[in-house]
Amino acid sequence: PTFPLHSTNEKAIPLLGFGTAEYPFGASIDTMKQTILEAIEVGYRHFDTAALYQTEQPLGEAISDALRLGLIKSRDELFITSKLWCSDAHHDCVLPALKKTLKNLKLEYLDLYLIHWPVSVKPGEYELPVKKKDLDPIDLKSVWEAMEECQALGLTKSIGVSNFSCKKLETILSTAKIPPAVNQVEMNPMWQQKKLRKFSDEKGILIESYSPLGAKGTLWGTNRVMECELLKEIAQAKGKSLAQVCLRWAYEQGVCVLVKSFNKERMKQNLDIFDWKLSAEESRKISQLPQFKGFPAGEFVSDDGPYKSLEELWDGEI
Ligand code: A2P
Repeated sequence: PTFPLHSTNEKAIPLLGFGTAEYPFGASIDTMKQTILEAIEVGYRHFDTAALYQTEQPLGEAISDALRLGLIKSRDELFITSKLWCSDAHHDCVLPALKKTLKNLKLEYLDLYLIHWPVSVKPGEYELPVKKKDLDPIDLKSVWEAMEECQALGLTKSIGVSNFSCKKLETILSTAKIPPAVNQVEMNPMWQQKKLRKFSDEKGILIESYSPLGAKGTLWGTNRVMECELLKEIAQAKGKSLAQVCLRWAYEQGVCVLVKSFNKERMKQNLDIFDWKLSAEESRKISQLPQFKGFPAGEFVSDDGPYKSLEELWDGEI
């Protein structure tokens, strides 16, 4: 299933995408390339990367190989997203950063380019955690203007943001000529983002769910999703896996889901969520789960920085 992004009439976004954030970052270019090729082979057409992840290059190589092997006929069959890292979140750094991303990917255009965090750090490093002494206030107006220029130049078909609160979306919307098409955020049954989803629906901004399974084992991950007793019970009753229940739940909320697996069987399993559904009672029980944010991102909070508390970073939405 796909959804037409309002800022592009060329290609709709596939609502199930494949994530490429390996942690530690850039662990193995070759493994990632093979993983992405397998994902294309089993049917994924939407891939999500970022300058931070160091997976642009293997994604680009996998796309070239997929074309050569005839797994796809043209690059246009794919929906490719990348993200502007915090060290490039300065007006004059945006276009050069996107050009570097396109070079890494060996592509002429992205389908979607996102501001990775509402955070600037001094130009230079691509690292998480960032150095707290390098945190700067982000000038959302001028960074967004540079994102709009990227779209006007045809280097990306759509633009959006990631990890933005309702308030920060309002700030962008108050001056934007092109509204953000997407806000990519942590979302799973343990962190359901009800307020942000309602706001985004009203504004026509598509939510993309990252960590739909809790991203166990990463800096931003939690075990709580895959260990949730209610989800285990529902999965057992339906004869599905817990992962499938999470992905189906997110899909039924009307968002785009970005999932990741290095295992071909689990890649296939994660695509198998479209010909069955959760009952009203199952959905109701999931909607009542106690909420827990897996990645509060205290990395971006500092006594001397622009966000002095998590409350400020998330504008109270935590
Ligand atoms: P693996 O690569 O071994 O399959 P998220 O998408 O929330 O970031 O979570 C990714 C993690 O979830 C990875 O560790 C991945 O491990 C695991 N995973 C992905 N799909 C499944 C699945 N169907 N069942 C169990 N674990 C899964």
